[in-house]
Amino acid sequence: MASEYHEIYESWQKNPEGFWAGAAKEIDWIKPAEKVFDADAGTYGRWFSGATCNTCYNAVDRHVERGRAGQPAIIYDSPITGAKRTISYSELKEEVEALSAAMRDRGVEKGDRVIIYMPMIPEAAVAMLACARLGAIHSVVFGGFAARELATRINDCAPKMIISASCGVEPNRVVHYKPLLDEAIEIADAKPSSTIIFQREQEICTLIDGRDFDYAEVVGKHKAEGTEVPCVEVAATDPLYILYTSGTTGQPKGVVRDNGGHMVALKWSMKNIYNIEPGEVYWAASDVGWVVGHSYIVYGPLLHGCTTIIFEGKPVGTPDAGTFWRVIEEHSVVTLFTAPTAFRAIKKEDPEGKLIGDYDLSQFRALFLAGERADPDTIQWAENKLGVPVYDHWWQTETGWTIAGNPVGLGALPIKYGSPTVAMPGYDIQVLDDAGHPIKAGQLGNVVVKLPLPPGCLPTLWNADTRFREAYLNEFPGFYKTADAGIIDEDGYLFIMARTDDIINVAGHRLSTGGMEEVIASHPDVAECAVIGVADKLKGQMPVGFIILNAGVTKSEEEIEKEIVKLVREKIGPVAAFKTAIQVQRLPKTRSGKILRATMQKIADGLEWKMPATIDDPAILEEITEAMKERGMV
Ligand code: COA
Ligand code: AMP
Repeated sequence: MASEYHEIYESWQKNPEGFWAGAAKEIDWIKPAEKVFDADAGTYGRWFSGATCNTCYNAVDRHVERGRAGQPAIIYDSPITGAKRTISYSELKEEVEALSAAMRDRGVEKGDRVIIYMPMIPEAAVAMLACARLGAIHSVVFGGFAARELATRINDCAPKMIISASCGVEPNRVVHYKPLLDEAIEIADAKPSSTIIFQREQEICTLIDGRDFDYAEVVGKHKAEGTEVPCVEVAATDPLYILYTSGTTGQPKGVVRDNGGHMVALKWSMKNIYNIEPGEVYWAASDVGWVVGHSYIVYGPLLHGCTTIIFEGKPVGTPDAGTFWRVIEEHSVVTLFTAPTAFRAIKKEDPEGKLIGDYDLSQFRALFLAGERADPDTIQWAENKLGVPVYDHWWQTETGWTIAGNPVGLGALPIKYGSPTVAMPGYDIQVLDDAGHPIKAGQLGNVVVKLPLPPGCLPTLWNADTRFREAYLNEFPGFYKTADAGIIDEDGYLFIMARTDDIINVAGHRLSTGGMEEVIASHPDVAECAVIGVADKLKGQMPVGFIILNAGVTKSEEEIEKEIVKLVREKIGPVAAFKTAIQVQRLPKTRSGKILRATMQKIADGLEWKMPATIDDPAILEEITEAMKERGMV
C-alpha cells in the first residue's frame, strides 16, 4: 500500500488545529474545547482549553459500556514468579473503583499528588487509573531507584498518599520495597498522610499503624460493598501525571502530562503509528516506571480498547531467551514494543534465534524499538529471525509519544537502517547549528522542534515554569530543544546520533552523569570526579567514573572503588548500573575549568578525537588514556 503519510503530514501543516480537532473526535469529552489551541495560555500555549474530560472514563468505563466488558484489558504474565492473570475491562473497572474509593476514604481528591512505587504487577496500572478517576495526579517512581531518589520526588511533588507493594522480584533477589519506602518518607521533608501497600506472597512487610493500609483489605471492603466512584470531571489542561526524568543535575525534572492532549495523541498513535485495531493484543515490554510504560503499557492500549500485557520478567533468564516468543504465542500478541537492549540480550544468549522456532508467531505483525539508538545489526537480526518488519522510533519522556517514526497505519515508509524515519504530524523537526541557524541536509546539528509542541507533550515542568523555559525553550527561541544531536537527510529521514548534554542511556534507561557525580563527590575520600557514558555492547552505554582522591588517603584502589559502587547503588539505585571507578591524578579541563567529558568519552569509545583548542594541559589526556588502558577499556 502506498503510504498516505506525506498527504496527512501536509494536511497537519496546513491546518494543525483542524488536524487535532479531527483526532479529538475519538475521545469522549464531558465538555468540548472552547479553543483547540490557545496560544496565549501556558508557557507556549495549551491544547483543548475549556474542554473537560476524564482519562479513566476513556480508558476503562466507556469500553465496559460499549461491548468490551468481557474482553481482557490486562494480561499479567510473570515468568519471574510464575503468576498469570487475566483481567477483563469490567473487572478492571471494579478494581479501579474500589481502589479509588479507598483513596477517597483517606482524603485523596482532585489535584492531590499520589506517588506509585510498585513492581510490574496489575495493581500498578490500577493505581494509575484510580488516580485518573479521582482527578488526582500520579507520579510513578521506577522500582530500581533507591530511597534517596524516591525522597527527592516526594519532596518535589508533596504527595498526599503513596501506593506501593511489599516487594519487587528480580532474578537474583527479592527487592524489599517497604524499608526503601520507610527510609524515603523518613528523609523527605514532605510527608504523605497515608500509604496503601500491596502485600505480595513473596514477602509480607510490616505496616505502620495508622499510616500504612493493606491494599487487599481496603480494596476488598469496597469491592464487597460495590462502592461506586464516579469519574471526576477535570479540565483537559489539568495534569494527569508527573513523571520524573533525569536532567543534567541530581535534581530530576518533573515532566507534566495533561489529560486532554495526552488522550488525543495516544489514541491517534495506536492506529496510525502502530497499526493496531481495538480488541487486539499489544505488548510494550518496558516498565510502568518509564514513559514507555505510561504511554504504551497503560494509557495508549486501554484508550484504544486493546488488551495490554503486564510482563514481570526479563528478556533473558526468566527462564530463557525464548520468553518473549512464549508470551507472543500464548497471548496472541500482534505487536511488540521494546528497547533494542532487550534484543541485544536475546541475541547474545541465542545468536541463531533457535528458540524462536519453538513458538507459533503467525499472528505477530511488527516489532517497534525505542528508548535508545537502534543499531542496524540488532534491527537486521530481529528482522531476519522474526520475519516481521522492525521499526525504530524516536521520542522522549517529555513528548510522551513518537516525534519521528514510521507511521505503519498510514502505510509504512521504506526503512533506512539507523533512522527512526520521519517527523510525525504535530512535529516540525529541524536541525540547527549552535548559533540557531538552519543547517544543510546531511549535516549534524541540534535537533529541535518548532513550537508549539503537539498535544501529549509536556506543557511545563512541575512547579517549575522557569526551569522548563531554561532547559528547553531559551537556547533556540521559538523551538523546543530535544538535547539530541542528529541529521536530516535529503529524503527527510532523521538520524539521532547522540545527546548534547550529560545524559547517558544505559539499557534504555535515561541517567544523569551529573547526578552520579554529585553522589560520588559526597564520598569523604573523593576530591573531584567525572562520570562519562562508555559504549557497551549489551546496554548501549555504561557509566564509568574517574576520581581524584584527597591527599593522604591510604585505602587501596579496589577498596575505594567498592565503596563508591556501593554508594551509587545506595543513593541512586541498582538501575544506575555503576560498576567502575578509576583513580586518576588529574582530570582534563578547559582553561575555564570545564571537564572535557566528551573527549574522554571519544577516547574510551575508540573514536577519532581532536585535541580541544581550549584544553589547559594536553598531557592529562595521555594520563587518562593510560588509566583506561590499565583497566582494559581501550
Ligand atoms: N526494581 C529493582 N531493581 C531493578 C529493577 C526494578 N524494577 N529493574 C532493574 N533493577 C536492577 C537489576 O536487578 C540490576 O541489579 P543488579 O546490579 O543487582 O544486577 C540493575 O537494576 C540493572 O538492571 P538492568 O539495567 O535491567 O540490567 P540487567 O542486567 O538486570 O538486565 C537487560 C539487562 C538488557 C536484560 C535489561 O536491561 C532489559 O530487559 N532491558 C530492556 C529495556 C527496557 O526495559 N527499557 C526500558 C525503557 S523502554
Ligand atoms: P527517555 O526520556 O528515557 O525516553 O529518553 C529519551 C532519549 O533517549 C532521547 O532524547 C534519545 O537520546 C534517546 N532515544 C530514545 N529513542 C531513541 C531512538 N529511537 N534512537 C536514538 N535515540 C533514542
